[in-house]
Amino acid sequence: MTMHIPEFALVLLVGPSGSGKSTFARKHFRPTEVLSSDFFRGMVCDDEMNQAASEDAFELLHLVCEKRLRLGKLTVIDATNVRAESRKPFLELARKYHAQVTAVVFDFSAEFCHARNQQRAAERPFGPHVTQRHAEDLRRSLGRLEDEGVRRVFVLKDEEQVAGATFERYRLPMNKRDERGPFDMIGDVHGCLSELLALLRALGYTLTQETAADGAAFWRVTPPEGRRLVFVGDLCDRGPDTPGVYRLVIDAVERGVAFCVLGNHEDKLLRWFNTPDKVKLTHGLAQSVEQFEKELPEQRARVREFIARLPSHLVLDGGRLVVAHAGLTADMHGRVSGKVRAFAIYGDTTGESDEFGLPVRLNWAANYRARATVVYGHTPTLTPEWVNRCICIDTGCVFGGKLTALRYPEQELVSVPAEKEYAEPKRPLAPPPQALVPGGQAAPAEGHAGGHAASPSPAEGASGERSADPDLADVIGRRTIETRFAGKVTIREENAAAALESMSRFAADPRWLVYLPPTMSPCEASARPEFLEHPAEAFRYFRSEGADRVVCEQKHMGSRAVAVVCQDEAAAARRFGAEGESGIVYTRTGRRFFDDPATEAAFLGLLRDALTRADWWAKFGTDWVALDGELMPWSAKAQELLRRQYAATGSAATAALAEVNSLFGPGGTELAGRFAAKAKAAERFVAAYRRYCWPVNSVADLKFAPFFLLATEGQLYFDRTHEWHMRTLAELATAPQVLATPFRVVDLTDPAQEEAATRWWLDLTEAGDEGMVVKPLEPLTRGRKFFAQPALKVRGREYLRIIYGPDYLAPEHLGRLKHRAVGAKRGLAAREFGLGLEGLERFARGAELRAVHECVFAVLALESEPIDPRL
Ligand code: CTP
Ligand code: MG
Repeated sequence: MTMHIPEFALVLLVGPSGSGKSTFARKHFRPTEVLSSDFFRGMVCDDEMNQAASEDAFELLHLVCEKRLRLGKLTVIDATNVRAESRKPFLELARKYHAQVTAVVFDFSAEFCHARNQQRAAERPFGPHVTQRHAEDLRRSLGRLEDEGVRRVFVLKDEEQVAGATFERYRLPMNKRDERGPFDMIGDVHGCLSELLALLRALGYTLTQETAADGAAFWRVTPPEGRRLVFVGDLCDRGPDTPGVYRLVIDAVERGVAFCVLGNHEDKLLRWFNTPDKVKLTHGLAQSVEQFEKELPEQRARVREFIARLPSHLVLDGGRLVVAHAGLTADMHGRVSGKVRAFAIYGDTTGESDEFGLPVRLNWAANYRARATVVYGHTPTLTPEWVNRCICIDTGCVFGGKLTALRYPEQELVSVPAEKEYAEPKRPLAPPPQALVPGGQAAPAEGHAGGHAASPSPAEGASGERSADPDLADVIGRRTIETRFAGKVTIREENAAAALESMSRFAADPRWLVYLPPTMSPCEASARPEFLEHPAEAFRYFRSEGADRVVCEQKHMGSRAVAVVCQDEAAAARRFGAEGESGIVYTRTGRRFFDDPATEAAFLGLLRDALTRADWWAKFGTDWVALDGELMPWSAKAQELLRRQYAATGSAATAALAEVNSLFGPGGTELAGRFAAKAKAAERFVAAYRRYCWPVNSVADLKFAPFFLLATEGQLYFDRTHEWHMRTLAELATAPQVLATPFRVVDLTDPAQEEAATRWWLDLTEAGDEGMVVKPLEPLTRGRKFFAQPALKVRGREYLRIIYGPDYLAPEHLGRLKHRAVGAKRGLAAREFGLGLEGLERFARGAELRAVHECVFAVLALESEPIDPRL
């Protein structure tokens, strides 16, 4: 006897003690696949025979069984299993995890089993009543196993049958893990042949007219090299040419260039094929029936066979891609059960109906957290929307919408419009819950002012959930975030906890936080005796990273500020879900820059006017702009630091040193000289920090120096040079409060240019400026190993007094300070930059709030890494 079992199954061995279950299990299964009650008895009490340990042993056995089934592992239960109550927990687990249950019954007489046990009396020292009872229980069980939920029962009646039995494990029809793609998934066609042809052509497929055996003409599709089609089901009903669509798809599937899953309309069509009298011709089935009645019976039979064999869903690309007509939660991927089938073709319905008489659906995708991408159709929407890693590509072609394809792995959406409205939708085609965001649109808008157009991605899901608050579960604990530019970034649990504390207490509404800027490392300590930092080291770094052209920007001594400026409140509501606000200015740690809403509003007004004057709304085709820059004066944010640290140091030093120096009198001793120098240093220290402080009475006293255009609607600008950013942002400097930052582009292969830039830095810093920031001309410059640092700062000699103390330049201090390690800070900057960019990209392509916030949160979490704060 050959026993066919699916690759994922629960096998129950059923038989009296001594019937040969363990021996059989050893012969046919891997030791790890077999869970034997004896083994678990031994495990809990060292004695496999101790019946008193049975309860504990089974508790463990059930637990291990559950773990295996959850993981989708074939599991064999080696216990007598002759009583319904002992089988029950296994059958429940099998139901829960959609495992198909096979029973192998050892229908041997009590006497025979007892005789065998006599041979091993040391192990089974019991009387004949034991096997007697087992045999009786077995007898009672035999007729009812199927009713209990066992799918296949194999009964072995004698030793010969046992010896001749073999297992053949078969692959489940949905398991196409070996198919790696690339794929083009096609949404619900519903008989729209003409649109299907147009879409296939748009995807680069070749179409030829062929003649079938029955003389009918049909379309044969030939894919571009290596690609394959995957239809999400519902090929039939409502539309003009359902039979033509099936001819094309069946031919393609038979030739191995397409896959197809079962849709609910197919399921009903199949019922009509099988029992036409019992099926109501509603929901567009009437059109299909009318069209099929013109086909020959053989062709109808062919379609029926085809549908009957369609899998409920498909698991592709090593499990990374799942296609199901109405979607599928992760616990059902690759599994077979009535529940899986129902979910895959009807979706997650509550059983209730809405005002249009349509089933109310639960939003399973909103809770989806698994790694596999799920592509589905079934529920027509105006535009496909990513929700977590799930996307519905039914864009209601038959209702006059579009026919949409999703290319995988590219994640590109391609659509063609319907030629007409073939059926009237019961419920008007609605945009996805937040069609406001650009992500997921079939054809991403062309960049208005250029820049890279955002395309949706499943990495993080999308628009539908924008309004949802971030979930605590998404930020606590140790987390790893996959970024495009910095690879995997891991956040330690304690850092996440610190960030959570800070975010929840101080941060602005997460809907506004689309980006947190990275930290910035200084250049290495200078080799020159009179400098701690000098441009030469920054230039050397970028040269060694292969970035021959850099931009040097004057570093304003202010506070980093991200400004999101919306054209009006409507734009803010649309894009950021904000109410009664039209923008925000926030700090590097996600806090609102201004405590007073009126100040913030006035300041945003200033920026908005500058944007309007520069005609940026039209120029960038946007109604909001995100800018990264420096806000001055520094004292506006750093009051506390100023008072407690700098002013205190300055006044103490000035007062004390004046006293000390007055005691020295006029004589020129060495000690007096040293203290005179200290007094001078203290004076310069005070002068240094004072430069960056001025009183702020109104927004007119503030200054903002933007240096990077982060994003506009659907666009990022990381592919533009910093020179482009500086020149473009200079257009905004039309009010005294908006500064155009002085900068210069330096070709590092030309020593003269490097020297001129160094001179420029010396002039700036000797006049008391903080220093400069050196950036690779291309913001995303690949360095030797990873991306080059996004920026290095080179701070001036005078300014550094604020950081390292008034007399840090004294040789005894400078020598010590030069031993500083910038590696950790740079690693941090790289990861933060990668995360920041990742978050912004997610935002630009309309990912859901949770996915954007995850990155923003991670940047903040990294900020609690212990790093020398003076760097
Ligand atoms: N045996 C045998 N020939 C077989 C199968 C089993 O001689 N074809 C012997 C085994 O060597 C063992 C005894 O019969 O000594 C019982 O077999 P076992 O596989 O241990 O039976 P189980 O059904 O597992 O018994 P229990 O429920 O007591 O574990
Ligand atoms: Mg046994």
